Amino acid sequence: MALQDKSILSTIADLRTRLNKANESYYLLDNPEISDSEYDHLMQQLIELETQHPELITPDSPTQKVGNKVSALFTPVNHRVPMLSLSNAFSSSELTRWEDRIRRTLGMASDAPIEYVCELKIDGLSVSLTYSNGTLVQGATRGDGTVGEDITVNLRTLKALKAPLKAADDAYIPKLIEIRGEVFLSHQEFARINAHLEEHSGRTFANCRNAAAGSLRQKDTAAAASRNLDLFVYTVGAVDGMEFKTQQQLLNTYQIWGLPVNPNVRLCNGITECLQFISEWETRKETLGYDIDGVVVKVNSFAMQRELGQVSRSPRWAIAYKYPAMQVQTRVERIEVQVGRTGAITPVAILTPVSVGGVTVARATLHNEDEIRRKDIRIGDTVVVQRAGEVIPEVVEVVSSLRNGNELPFTMPTHCPACGTSVERPAGEAVSRCVNASCPARRQQQLEHFVSRGAMDIEGLGVKQIEMLVGNGLVKNAADLYNLKMDQMLSLDRMGEKLATKILANINESRTRPLDKLLFALGIRHVGEHVASVLAEEFGSLENLGNTTIEQLARVHEVGSVIAESVHSWFALEENRELLKQLKTAGVIPPEHIKVSASQILEGKTLVFTGALSKMTRAEAEALTKQHGGRASGSVSRQTSIVVAGENAGSKLVKATELGLTIISEDEFLAMLNSE
Ligand code: IVH
Repeated sequence: MALQDKSILSTIADLRTRLNKANESYYLLDNPEISDSEYDHLMQQLIELETQHPELITPDSPTQKVGNKVSALFTPVNHRVPMLSLSNAFSSSELTRWEDRIRRTLGMASDAPIEYVCELKIDGLSVSLTYSNGTLVQGATRGDGTVGEDITVNLRTLKALKAPLKAADDAYIPKLIEIRGEVFLSHQEFARINAHLEEHSGRTFANCRNAAAGSLRQKDTAAAASRNLDLFVYTVGAVDGMEFKTQQQLLNTYQIWGLPVNPNVRLCNGITECLQFISEWETRKETLGYDIDGVVVKVNSFAMQRELGQVSRSPRWAIAYKYPAMQVQTRVERIEVQVGRTGAITPVAILTPVSVGGVTVARATLHNEDEIRRKDIRIGDTVVVQRAGEVIPEVVEVVSSLRNGNELPFTMPTHCPACGTSVERPAGEAVSRCVNASCPARRQQQLEHFVSRGAMDIEGLGVKQIEMLVGNGLVKNAADLYNLKMDQMLSLDRMGEKLATKILANINESRTRPLDKLLFALGIRHVGEHVASVLAEEFGSLENLGNTTIEQLARVHEVGSVIAESVHSWFALEENRELLKQLKTAGVIPPEHIKVSASQILEGKTLVFTGALSKMTRAEAEALTKQHGGRASGSVSRQTSIVVAGENAGSKLVKATELGLTIISEDEFLAMLNSE
């Protein structure tokens, strides 16, 4: 028993030390050493142990405090009402249990309805804004929850806080109010700041939250102002001369006063409706343009909130449902290199598998040698990996405090790992390349690209099949695919007649893909899907394109000298000309490319199609856009000129509405094209 107590005591002490250390680096140094999810996990363990052994709780335990000590950089500010934290839930059952607890505390029947407000949990820094008769008089960080830091001057630089509160008939302004919310940075600003830092100091921020923290606590106010921090307000501290009845009323009032309130809030009846909101935003969050790490569920009625009160550091009336973290720590087991279709040699980190946002990540691109050196990534390092949207996982930074001295620096191979040819890195370029055009690894990648969806779209030919075809010597280049015979196909492993027939039919059918698809499939450096369609439109045939000078190419809108040079040198290579000849002989001939003389009504405009279209396919709509001088894009941004919304349009339509973009129907789109 005594032994067990001792081990519990030491576990608790260890957890407290780790959490205190993490708190310090998080709040004071704006430089977290452990990930949010790891922090939550440690805190959860400590809470559990302290719940089982309440006699071991001490007032200075991290479970009893919010955040950390105050930095001496800024003047301390006493919060009139403490700034609390939220307890977390990671599953629907935890939310249901939370609701049960609320009902029990309030003495309600087990099926009595409760109204909640669901809000996005913005991943930034909480601030308190004191307004006296509608004027911002003080802005403070949370600090330890009781005492924060005075950052008024920096907060005054926020666009959202430039004006005094606007009075309106139904939104009287109180004598004094502490308005609370979250300061954050948009992805766009984060990228801009990091690009600037990279150029000037080489040190960048690992994520938006760190960048926001660093910017908010800048001693140089002009520098803070240049960071374009953003804000959403969502709760209240002390109020003098006014009473709010519900969270919904509070948010409405803030909005009338002219404060930034996040538009994505929902009044929900019961936890089931909250769970619906939570699951909707798990995917929609990618379209927001700023980070959220969950959803905050709040009891709507302030009377009920008062009755529920709080437990140590968090209120009982609100809970944070956390999404799985998108940034997680793991170890670099080794670094491999991968040979791409253009011969580019890309280092890849092989990681101890971890779940990042619910997806297992075991590899992450390291881009190139310079990037490895800049981030100082070594084999054996603990690193932070992230998965943002659909982007390939990447290593954000090394956790250098966890090094033990056994980590090994990586050196780029001097010879291609696939064919042994020496690797070249041209002066001024970051990428090393295998220069052997017949390198088997390059061939494999080229063929995989050739048959891929946006290119020749040959279904049934996957990585494995191509490996076998190349390995058996049946296919050396793309043209060979078109000469494959049934008996050759049947000689492959696990290839039956039915599948072989299907694949051969798919190959055959791809002979007449349009010119832009074929052009993209050839894998010319810098010729992506969009450039391929520009070139196809302009030159109409491979022959014309091959006979064009660099100058002519560079004059084409959206082409420029780098692409021109790349296209020109591709066509100049004898083996590429030979490949084109072989493709033609094999019957790969794009249908005559007719330059349609359509109206240019969409010239210079970027269109986004969303939802189900009924009169045309998405591809046809995009082709029409191009014919009329416009450009089709997959995502909505401020650069979007027009959004064409079909049936059941989702998040893109929401975003377009938020940005105030022009939104038209499919019929209006067609009418527009026919109007000239
Ligand atoms: S309400 C009594 N609402 O999450 C607590 N907090 O983990 C009042 N946060 O300290 C907080 N979005 O910094 C609330 N819509 C939201 C929020 C939000 C982000 C932050 C806030 C809080 C932390 C708790």
